[in-house]
Amino acid sequence: MNYDVKDLNLSEGGKKRIEWADNDMPVLQKVRAQFEKNKPLSGLKMSACLHVTAETANLVRTLKAGGADVLLCASNPLSTQDDVAASLVKDYGISIYAIKGEDRETFFKHLKAAVEHSPNITMDDGADLISTIHKDYPELCDQVIGSMEETTTGVIRLRAMANDNALKIPVVAVNDAKTKNMFDNRYGTGQSTLDGIIRATDMLIAGKNVVVGGYGWCGRGFAMRARGMGAKVIVTEVDQVKALEAAMDGFQVMPMIEAAKVGDLFCTLTGDIHVIDKHHFEAMKDGAVVCNSGHFDVEINVAGLKEMASNVRKNIRNFVDEYIVNGRRIFLLAEGRLVNLSAAEGHPASVMDMSFSTQALASHWVVANKENLAPKVYDISPKIEEYVAKLKLKSMDIEIDELTQEQKKYLESWEEGT
Ligand SMILES: NC(=O)c1ccc[n+]([C@@H]2O[C@H](COP(=O)([O-])OP(=O)(O)OC[C@H]3O[C@@H](n4cnc5c(N)ncnc54)[C@H](O)[C@@H]3O)[C@@H](O)[C@H]2O)c1
Repeated sequence: MNYDVKDLNLSEGGKKRIEWADNDMPVLQKVRAQFEKNKPLSGLKMSACLHVTAETANLVRTLKAGGADVLLCASNPLSTQDDVAASLVKDYGISIYAIKGEDRETFFKHLKAAVEHSPNITMDDGADLISTIHKDYPELCDQVIGSMEETTTGVIRLRAMANDNALKIPVVAVNDAKTKNMFDNRYGTGQSTLDGIIRATDMLIAGKNVVVGGYGWCGRGFAMRARGMGAKVIVTEVDQVKALEAAMDGFQVMPMIEAAKVGDLFCTLTGDIHVIDKHHFEAMKDGAVVCNSGHFDVEINVAGLKEMASNVRKNIRNFVDEYIVNGRRIFLLAEGRLVNLSAAEGHPASVMDMSFSTQALASHWVVANKENLAPKVYDISPKIEEYVAKLKLKSMDIEIDELTQEQKKYLESWEEGT
């Protein structure tokens, strides 16, 4: 088995983390037991490019249980848990290519290893694998029966490829499943982003002016949790409806240039570029803390900040760099990369239980429907969403009502009314 991890001797701690996370992933456990029995991925090669965390470990264990020959590489140079990577190799016999803090060259070398695994199915978090296959290994497109995409930014890239008729592989927008974005993006990102910020800075959130860039699923979750900890939350948006929603949810809404003057803590969650730009840094107060929890490290103009700074002190605390701009200190967290996965552990296992069960079942769906799939972006089947939600509710000991025959008839009819 081929692999490239930091140190196999870290495996003991990693195994404990994988098992701990598994306790909180009852739906995935159930899917794994089914996969173990039915082997729906038998004989298939799978390459996954995901954050290498304890939760992902339980996903790739599940894919292996389903019969797949799986290789996993990192979707972000800072998000790998090295002990988990070591345990996956040593205890679970899975090929891992991921080292926390790997440089650009190593990151792309690992991505290349995942492509050269010659997969029949791929899984992405940000569409890196699928775009590398299209750009540099087009001959592989024919053998890939389908790909799953985990995040908003990846789905945006894939839809852009489909619109340009450049997409050659069927993909499933797992991110767009209700069992994913309503929970993972909102509650997972909301909680873990604050966790990352607090671990990196130890700052008190209560009483702070917290500026949230973007009021999508992730931004809503973060704003809600920051308010819960006593922050005065300001939202910036470019979408009229989302801005209105934020205002009616009780948040202040204003352009970033206004928010820049008053914010103590800034967090971008947009999927967009340069949401915090040079002119915003110009306006910031001394001691402003700036971070990103959107997918790529482009949401904050870090290169611009470097150009403007009269002095830079790296790593004044883990994951904190200090930049001096006009005599004022600006603290950038995790180099502008995903703060929740860099400075904390990413989303809690309980929420990834739904995302990754949806992922695993989507891979089964791709195999079962391979004859009929075209190179386009597919939504998750509502049956998968329902199944995952049902199992999750059951694991939480929650029961719900069922429609009676009378109600079904009423809801399907149009004659009855006033
Ligand atoms: N940190 C994580 O672990 C994590 C988890 C899930 C998703 N993500 C990433 O977070 C980002 C947001 O995901 P989402 O699901 O919330 O997407 P979304 O599409 O629901 O929301 C994004 C919001 O940002 C707004 N926006 C775009 N440009 C803006 C700008 N310049 N200023 C202010 N607002 C702007 C959009 O109008 C939209 O409302 C994506 O990059 C996604 O891949 C990160």
